[in-house]
Amino acid sequence: MMLRIENILTKEEVRQFRELMDKAEWVDGNATAGTQSSLAKRNMQLPEASPLARQLGDAILEALTRNNTFLSAALPAKIFPPLFNRYEGGQGFGNHVDNSIRQIRGTAHRIRTDLSMTLFLSEPEDYDGGELVVEDTYGTHVVKLPAGDMVLYPSTSLHRVTPVTRGARVASFFWLQSMVRDEGERTLLFQLDNSIQKLAAERGLKDEAVIELTGVYHNLLRRWAEA
Ligand code: NI
Repeated sequence: MMLRIENILTKEEVRQFRELMDKAEWVDGNATAGTQSSLAKRNMQLPEASPLARQLGDAILEALTRNNTFLSAALPAKIFPPLFNRYEGGQGFGNHVDNSIRQIRGTAHRIRTDLSMTLFLSEPEDYDGGELVVEDTYGTHVVKLPAGDMVLYPSTSLHRVTPVTRGARVASFFWLQSMVRDEGERTLLFQLDNSIQKLAAERGLKDEAVIELTGVYHNLLRRWAEA
């Protein structure tokens, strides 16, 4: 399932991010690429361990923990500290699949990448190209979102970023390990949760069917999740 989540960051937060990022020093993006993807990757990144990347990454993680749509769709167990990239002057990233396991730099922690996220930090009208193109079993999806919005997609998908031919495309990108490894099970839980929320809004939390379905949701989660 691919999902767009709007307003992870407000426009004011995006403005503050960009003010700090636009003054920062950027390094070659191949710092975080695997051997195969380094052949396809042409962009710049904020250094992974830089205080600014940490500070902005923490602000994103905080925003995500307040976002019920994200929590319900991703059921995150571990989130990789967000990274930041910038494409300009014809830079792009050819087709690739993200590495399956990522070590969190400077720690012994590893995560399995179940979901990939891109949080857009440039407005679409400020650059040409720079579309995120994701291929899955339903076809090819082209994603270019307003600043502050995020897309979440299965890390198993082949994807690319088309060359940026005008302006700059600035974004945060990161991965997470979900409590529910299986994409189909995770999608069913998200759909069930959405239906329960709708029903609860109509009938109230004390409604018998709402209580029973909430029980079903938790019992499926208990069955499928690794906490
Ligand atoms: Ni990628």
